[in-house]
Amino acid sequence: MSRISHLEGPQGHHEIDRVGPVILLGVPGAGKGTQAKRISAHYQIPHISTGDMFRAFVRAETTRGRQFWEYMQRGELVPDKIVCEIVAERVLQRDCQRGFILDGFPRTVTQTEWLIKFLAKHHLTGGGGVVVLYLAVGYNSLFERLSGRLSCPSCGRSYHRTTQPPKHDNVCDFDGATLIQRGDDSPEVIRERLTTYEQQTLPLVEYFRTHGRFYQIDGTEPADVVTERIYNALDACRGTAA
Ligand code: AP5
Repeated sequence: MSRISHLEGPQGHHEIDRVGPVILLGVPGAGKGTQAKRISAHYQIPHISTGDMFRAFVRAETTRGRQFWEYMQRGELVPDKIVCEIVAERVLQRDCQRGFILDGFPRTVTQTEWLIKFLAKHHLTGGGGVVVLYLAVGYNSLFERLSGRLSCPSCGRSYHRTTQPPKHDNVCDFDGATLIQRGDDSPEVIRERLTTYEQQTLPLVEYFRTHGRFYQIDGTEPADVVTERIYNALDACRGTAA
């Protein structure tokens, strides 16, 4: 019997079917959301974006949404405890049993430590550990990417005014919603987000580089090339343990 064929997770899923869980790491504007949507469609696993979740709360104008926006508009992180609670609730849903993609989470050492314990406790890695995809992009191109970004408020898809425009002006190709510029994509907030990333999230890259299945992918390549490299990495480690 081959090494993979007899591996079976606690929910009865053969591990060859499992994808991840995948963690997408990268600076704001690296292309995490763009790639996460493609991975989700290709492998049929849920895309869990903490940023998209917070923006949904903001749009719903709930008290919680207003609290989240206070942090987001300053380019700061939402407190770890709330973020972990929201992620916990989402990944325990049934559709995550075959794997899922975390986009924008974890972002701090505390979130990372919590996640590793939580996944082990709930048998959510099938013994294989997480797969970390680090989209490496230098800071030079980020202002151009983020200040030209158009976002769909409904499905969260990202476009770019010049490099990835929608088929019709200001309209999402996928669901027809009117595209917007995100409130935190102003130059001042972008600067704060980059500082926050350097201080709180960048250290995770070195942590994951030596723990688990880590792939560094050049995020400055065209989006389709990046996607191809991600699929190669994920296909290579499907069903394999760390
Ligand atoms: P979040 O929504 O996660 O934002 P982010 O991490 O800053 O990342 P972005 O969404 O800005 O960029 P992206 O990497 O997804 O790039 P995209 O694909 O859109 O978080 C927002 C806020 O929520 C945070 O600041 C924080 O306040 C809070 N938050 C979220 N998670 C949290 C957590 N875990 N803990 C605490 N707080 C949290 O692409 C960007 C642009 O580039 C687009 O225009 C796109 O078309 C273009 N592009 C994409 N790929 C390419 C390519 N290969 N070549 C050229 N252009 C490209």
